[in-house]
Order: sequence, then C-alpha cells, then structure tokens
Amino acid sequence: MAKVADTPSRDKIISASILSGDFKDLGTQIKDVHKAGAKWLHIDVMDGCFVPNISIGIPVIASIRGASDIFFDVHLMILDPIRYIEYFYQAGAQLITVHAEATPDLQKAIDTIQALGIKAGVSLNPSTDFEHIEGYMHQLDLILFMGVEPGFGGQKFKPEVLEKIKHARKMINSRGLKTLIEVDGGVNEDTVSDIAKAGCDVFVAGSYIFDNPKGMAAAIKTLKGGIN
Ligand code: DX5
Ligand code: ZN
Repeated sequence: MAKVADTPSRDKIISASILSGDFKDLGTQIKDVHKAGAKWLHIDVMDGCFVPNISIGIPVIASIRGASDIFFDVHLMILDPIRYIEYFYQAGAQLITVHAEATPDLQKAIDTIQALGIKAGVSLNPSTDFEHIEGYMHQLDLILFMGVEPGFGGQKFKPEVLEKIKHARKMINSRGLKTLIEVDGGVNEDTVSDIAKAGCDVFVAGSYIFDNPKGMAAAIKTLKGGIN
C-alpha cells in the first residue's frame, strides 16, 4: 500500500467526491484535486440494491491507492456492509462509513472497522432520524449526513437536513466528543455557508468541484471561503 496521509483533525476539510470525476483518467484526476486543495477523497461505493446505482468497487480503490497519498474517505452505500469491510481496508480505505439503514448490526460494523485501526463513520439518509445513532455517538469517529437521497451526484441540497446537523453539533459539543460531522450531497457555493454554520467539519463536494467551469482549484477556494 502507498504511504498515506494523516488521520482526521478538527480543521475544516474538503472531501472531493470522485463520483463526478472523469473515470477515463482517475489517477490524474485524484492527483489534480489533491493539489487543488482537497484534503480527502470521497469514494462512493454503490451496490444497485441499497441505492439505484452502481459505482466504484474494491479493485478500483486498490488501484487508485497507488496514485496518491490523499486520505481515502470511503462511503459504503451497500446492504449488509460488514461482509466487505476488511476488503475495503485492504484496498486502502482510511475511513469507512456505513449506512444506518443498510447495516443490521451497527455495533458490529463499528467494532469491525475500528479493530482494523481505521476510522468508523455512520451515515443517515435525509429522512432518517438522528435518534437511530444517538446511542453510538461516543464511539463514532464521524457522522455523515446525506444532504440528498443517496445514489447520484448533482442533486439539490435538502435544507431540512440543517436541523439534524445543528442537533448533532450541540450534542457533540455538550458531551465533549471528537466525532466529526460530514455532509454529503448538494454542497456548493450557495449552500456551504449554511452547512458550515450548522456545524459541519467535512464537506463532500462532487459536481461543484469536478464540473466547475472555473476549475477545481477555484471551486475549492470558493468553498473554503464560504466555510470561514
Ligand atoms: C451521492 C453521493 C455523493 C455525491 C455528491 O449518493 O454519496 O458523494 O457524489 O455529489 P454532489 O456533490 O454533486 O451532490
Ligand atoms: Zn458519498
């Protein structure tokens, strides 16, 4: 495995979603987006069952691991993800996030990921109540709030998700936890400030970065400007 970057910190992080990248030259895209200012690479894994789309799998992740030392933020949108955790770890994942809606034994999934020495995240769809993961908060490295229905890039952020983010932020602060809050879907120059104010730490952006006519570096600079 290639040398990899540091573990997450409290600093605000841009995680570029490679789902919107140009797949005919993935290695170059990843190097370019890292150079452009993205600290993490968000990798969407879809199974065509939990979500109505199929995307990147284990061999592709293992292959792109050789292209860059950027932090690999792997978002599993698959049913019963425990079956594959070890394989994603071996492929180079540094953070694995599973969906509360797709994981029958959430405790076992969190334990399995953390036992490998990497970060564990749990994601919630826009309509899933925060209460589903409240009891796991103290163990989680990250909570991922979907700002759109999972499955596709380029959708519009659902503003009602902001309340859940604010609630999580309050709870994390009041309990003195280190859990990071990540938001995925619909993050762009119009939504990033509200998402930041609600308490987000890690901002996933796909189409805004990769399809931006001004280029990746300008897109990331604009996002960072909206966060601070
Ligand atoms: C959606 C994926 C997202 C997607 C975000 O299911 O989880 O990571 O790539 O795309 P944008 O930033 O275009 O909304
Ligand atoms: Zn994602």
